Amino acid sequence: MKMFLDTANLDEIREGASWGLFDGVTTNPSLIAKEGRDFIATIHEIAELIDGPVSAETVATDAPTMIREGRLLAKVHRNVVVKVPLTIEGIKTCKALADDGIRVNVTLCFQPAQAIYAAKAGAAYISPFVGRLDDVSEDGIDLIAKIVQIYQNYPALETEVLSASIRHPMHVVQSALAGAHVCTAPLKVYKQLFSHPLTDKGNVAFLKDWETVPDRDIIGQVERWLAKRS
Ligand code: G3P
Repeated sequence: MKMFLDTANLDEIREGASWGLFDGVTTNPSLIAKEGRDFIATIHEIAELIDGPVSAETVATDAPTMIREGRLLAKVHRNVVVKVPLTIEGIKTCKALADDGIRVNVTLCFQPAQAIYAAKAGAAYISPFVGRLDDVSEDGIDLIAKIVQIYQNYPALETEVLSASIRHPMHVVQSALAGAHVCTAPLKVYKQLFSHPLTDKGNVAFLKDWETVPDRDIIGQVERWLAKRS
């Protein structure tokens, strides 16, 4: 499963990029608004930090203007993927942009039928919102599993299931189990994936025991050992 960062915060993206694990970034109008910076400059900077798809969302509500926005957004950086909402106008936009060869992420998907439309319109990604469905007592991961199954029934489809609105580590694990191609989450959630008390406890014990080893300088030991052999 590919992992995208769901944020427009450049510090978070820089920190995430240093891990070397992330394959792309998703933004939305709320995440952009939160940063209080220029939209296009932010998208360009993000695209320079992570060499992978960077979703930038259109905000018009009619297809002709959305298509114009999308075509222009796609010119900002080769990594830009144009994000459109799952409305009739959004689906028309998706089809037009996909026909132009522009990658589109169709967002705000809450039921499998919507995902069928996105695929038919040539979307590169469909973004079902897992956490927001859980928030209203529906099963977000079940939606991921259903869309994955539907797409698998039609192997010619190239649309990838991008599990979004990820709130905690189990959403990431369950998305992978359900066969999502991508999941997108804030850095905070990815940090939580590292955590296990037995990892911390085990590491403390290893380092404590290492203190009893007479020569603890691994680098020096290996360098001397290599020098002797050459
Ligand atoms: O990118 C959209 C999505 O991931 C939103 O997440 O937490 O606002 O539901 P959230």
